[in-house]
Amino acid sequence: MAVAPAVQAEPKKPVSEEDGKYFDAEGNPTYNVKPDGTVDWYTYSGFRRYHAECHVCHGPDGMGSTYAPALIESVERLSYQDFIAVIIQGRENVTTGSQSVMPSFGTNKNVVCYLDDIYVYLRARGDGAIGRGRPMKREDKPQAAIDAEKACLGD
Ligand code: HEC
Repeated sequence: MAVAPAVQAEPKKPVSEEDGKYFDAEGNPTYNVKPDGTVDWYTYSGFRRYHAECHVCHGPDGMGSTYAPALIESVERLSYQDFIAVIIQGRENVTTGSQSVMPSFGTNKNVVCYLDDIYVYLRARGDGAIGRGRPMKREDKPQAAIDAEKACLGD
């Protein structure tokens, strides 16, 4: 695996909030971690979704494995759009003698309905805003998240 270049990774504050979801200056989704360690709902949800669908290859807590890159580093390097695109489309990297395949999750509702959740969780990890393991305290699930989930899952 390529070593990620040194990036500025430090906990950041969101610049806006809408129905319990937080955004940075570019309007991309981000985490919110309070001084007492309480995380926003999406960061907590992302922890769970990541460990259901991604950790088998990308390692626990986004740390990477011999097979797949550390997403806590990828998230610092890739744009939001590029990060999401790899998850939807998948990616195959064939070099002499070895093959590295990121499957496409475009039709997996357990992933596509929670893309921002997974993204903000990994951002929080990559910036060092949260440590390894399950966040101990979280905000309640916002009504907007309940509504969006229903619409996305189609039930
Ligand atoms: C079956 C194993 C596997 C699973 C499951 C998997 N990935 Fe991957 N993923 C890979 C491999 C291997 C690569 C590297 C592909 C390459 O070399 O181009 C990768 C690459 C990526 C990249 C690009 C990283 C970079 O630095 O460019 C992202 C983003 C990513 N995966 C996100 C996810 C997310 C989010 C999930 C869970 C929803 C997930 N992956 C599940 C194997 C997997």
